[in-house]
Amino acid sequence: MRVKIAVLPGDGIGPEVVKQAIKVINVLSKKFHHQVEIKEGIVGGAAIDKFGDPLPEETWKICEESDSILLGAVGGPKWDNLPGDKRPEKALLKLRSGFNLFANLRPISIFDELIFSSPIKEEYLKGVDFIIVRELTGGLYFGKPKETRIENGEEIAIDTMIYRTSEIRRIAHVAFKMAQKRKKKVTSVDKANILECSRLWRKIVEEVAKEYPDVALEHMYVDNCAMQIVRNPKQFDVILTENTFGDILSDEAAVITGSIGMLPSASLGETKKGLYEPIHGSAPDIAGQNVANPIATILSVALMFRYSFDLEEEAKLIEKSVRKVLSLGYFTKDLYANNPYAQKMVTTEEMGDLICSVIEGGA
Ligand code: NAD
Ligand code: IPM
Ligand code: MN
Repeated sequence: MRVKIAVLPGDGIGPEVVKQAIKVINVLSKKFHHQVEIKEGIVGGAAIDKFGDPLPEETWKICEESDSILLGAVGGPKWDNLPGDKRPEKALLKLRSGFNLFANLRPISIFDELIFSSPIKEEYLKGVDFIIVRELTGGLYFGKPKETRIENGEEIAIDTMIYRTSEIRRIAHVAFKMAQKRKKKVTSVDKANILECSRLWRKIVEEVAKEYPDVALEHMYVDNCAMQIVRNPKQFDVILTENTFGDILSDEAAVITGSIGMLPSASLGETKKGLYEPIHGSAPDIAGQNVANPIATILSVALMFRYSFDLEEEAKLIEKSVRKVLSLGYFTKDLYANNPYAQKMVTTEEMGDLICSVIEGGA
């Protein structure tokens, strides 16, 4: 297979973890005789520093001409005082909306060896396997008006939560289709006791559910869901939710897996072109130290091979290789403490190399 991948390392630990993911892409494509052309683009704070624009035209073009996009992370304290439109994070929002990537998939599954890396007790964790289907191009992130202005002599700020029926319907279909291939349960998460958007959300989700009689639907308020994710995560199969709730709940769910450095994501639209990224950010507190966990980014490559290229065997091999390395007790710093399975603390680079060598040898 011949594919073009746009790679956007970004800021902070972004370049460190993406470097490991590129190694994985290279060994995998060599092993399976795929021709992969990688083009790197500058994005986020790095692009602001060089071009005064978080998503320069050149980077957009690289993405446009590619079959899929891999992104590290953007943002950091250096750019925190810029206006919303000029911030590094704006690049991410432009990529998501520009390519119409409305469906953000965030799978949460547990590697048994990491159970003790999580602060949650073992009995609640074994067998947890769910996926958050997060609406990604609507809600508070994009609603207009979005501004800060003076009113009656004081500064006021406005964000607008807006959802259209069509936006809710298309993401609901993604969730129900996903559930059909899994444990056939959708938990739709909203705040319908308070928000108009959530009441419309609930109504449309119920309409869509009628087309999937084999899938059970339940509704849950977001505050309760936040509690249930740590109280009894095994109850979930597919969590369907809007943009902001999905952002917050997925960081919370990361705790179950042992570290936010473990969680990958895929952002998809109507075509095969997707944006793949770890759910974590640029982690300025550990950037440049070669300690960041690259697994979330490496697992995002597995999602890319699965969803954008339909190469399931390759995706599975990445996932099996990650599992193998963990089962041997090689952990990055974030996973190491209090875990009896931990044998050796490894750096970002070492973790990338270990996973690559297992892939080369066949996991
Ligand atoms: P963060 O996810 O960057 O970091 C939160 C905590 O998790 C930190 O203690 C960090 O060290 C740790 N962590 C994150 N990734 C890790 C990894 N791979 N290995 C080990 N530890 C890891 O969130 P934050 O500190 O709230 O945000 C920092 C910056 O990142 C902000 O500018 C934010 O806007 C941006 N951000 C970007 C993205 C993205 O590009 N997709 C996502 C989230 C946050
Ligand atoms: C994420 C991030 C982004 C989001 C930010 C950086 C725009 O937190 O991908 O989870 O809020 O969607
Ligand atoms: Mn987030």
